[in-house]
Amino acid sequence: MRLLTGSARLAGVIGWPVAHSRSPRLHGTWLARYDIDGAYLPLPVAPADFSAVVRALVKAGFMGANVTIPHKEAAFALCDVVEPSAARAGAVNTLVFEHGKIKGSNTDGAGFVANLRAHGVNPTGQALLLGAGGAARAIAAALQDAGMSVSVCNRTPERAAALARELPGLKTLAWEQRAAALADCALLVNTTALGMAKQPPLVMDLSKAASHLVVTDIVYAPLQTPLLIEAKARGLQIVSGLGMLLHQAVPGFAAWFGVTPVVDDELYAIVAGGLS
Ligand SMILES: NC(=O)c1ccc[n+]([C@@H]2O[C@H](COP(=O)([O-])OP(=O)(O)OC[C@H]3O[C@@H](n4cnc5c(N)ncnc54)[C@H](OP(=O)(O)O)[C@@H]3O)[C@@H](O)[C@H]2O)c1
Repeated sequence: MRLLTGSARLAGVIGWPVAHSRSPRLHGTWLARYDIDGAYLPLPVAPADFSAVVRALVKAGFMGANVTIPHKEAAFALCDVVEPSAARAGAVNTLVFEHGKIKGSNTDGAGFVANLRAHGVNPTGQALLLGAGGAARAIAAALQDAGMSVSVCNRTPERAAALARELPGLKTLAWEQRAAALADCALLVNTTALGMAKQPPLVMDLSKAASHLVVTDIVYAPLQTPLLIEAKARGLQIVSGLGMLLHQAVPGFAAWFGVTPVVDDELYAIVAGGLS
């Protein structure tokens, strides 16, 4: 085990709550692997304290931080510099502190696409996204940037319509149309919270799916959601959500600790530890 020196680099994840976060385990594995003089901490911060804490971290010499629920929009508002990835997503999940300034980016969309590519999936053709929340927005923008044509189905249609206003070219469909819309799709993405532990499963009829449909779920607890289990039983290719978490972490780690880390099976197994 490497002991920290007085010039150790510091970063962390700010959330409320944050105890469930797998990010300390993920970054801690990389810090150990690359023998870096640095630490990555869980930082539980209530919404009312968010901006004061971020400004204090800047003053305390932190390199930056990840931001998770419920702070991603507040982080967007706080940044001195917002990168295009965050502007497209309307939210920030990665903060880098440079010369006293706060720079924000959003790595969720790029992490999602990198995870697809790592599984041999080339994002082309038609994608159907279920959900229109923060993660959906980042993923829809990244899939459009990769060249896909994207449709969104959301329980609350107004939220899908708002997303379509932000991302020109995005199509919206009624929630009830989700099964029929599958016929022309190359990619199905569940970005809703349905299927998470303690949430109801996603009800999704896959009978109209083309045989080349790739089914992905960004929920990663459990690792194999009911949607993925059903897709696999039908012989469809599946991509689970934990890989997105691993890939979205790469740019932050590189900026804070100066090493571009590798996502591999060993990392996956360590971060997945304890998930069913
Ligand atoms: N793998 C990763 O790295 C990663 C990264 C980010 C997020 N996530 C996961 O992605 C999920 C969504 O995160 P988020 O930040 O986008 O959340 P969010 O902004 O709160 O959006 C939640 C979405 O789920 C839908 N939803 C919730 N309950 C529903 C129900 N009973 N029936 C139909 N739709 C329902 C909502 O629809 P309405 O608009 O109708 O309410 C909305 O579209 C979470 O499970 C989160 O843990 C994973």
